Amino acid sequence: MWPENLVYALTQVVHNFGAAAVLGGAVFVLWPAFKLEDGRTFAWLILFAWGAQIASGGLFGLTSLYYYGKTPDLSSIAMAALAIKVIAAIAGFLLAAFYLVRGREWDRVRVQRTFRALAALGATALTAAAFLRWFS
Ligand code: HEM
Repeated sequence: MWPENLVYALTQVVHNFGAAAVLGGAVFVLWPAFKLEDGRTFAWLILFAWGAQIASGGLFGLTSLYYYGKTPDLSSIAMAALAIKVIAAIAGFLLAAFYLVRGREWDRVRVQRTFRALAALGATALTAAAFLRWFS
């Protein structure tokens, strides 16, 4: 029992810190005043954190497959919440990567919009996480 719980718990540690970083990183750049000069540094953190969410989210599923031979049965609400999280994570990862590749030429307003979108994706995924947890 306990090795399996340890794998879930350690995966959850990565997942929780990743969740904090995707939202916290974007909010830090935007608030209390928009800090354009910190954008690239925090975009790397946010990119890495979205990647960690995708990897650790996938590891939850693989752990269930390894120990039980199947993934958990999810209600339709939980399944929708999971789909929202996956879409938000992929969109957040791609948006942060796009900004890092092209963002040097963008004006201040466009960069600010990008971080707002990243923050909104983080908030959406965190909200969906609560529905996944309690409608599973
Ligand atoms: C590929 C994307 C993702 C997958 C496959 C995934 C999958 C999962 C799974 C299987 C759980 C455990 C659910 C349970 O305890 O019943 C979980 C929990 C959680 N996820 Fe994700 N997740 C993903 C992305 C995200 C993102 C982007 C965030 C936030 C920014 C996030 C935040 C959370 C939180 C906070 C929990 C803990 C919920 C709780 O137990 O109260 N996840 N995730």
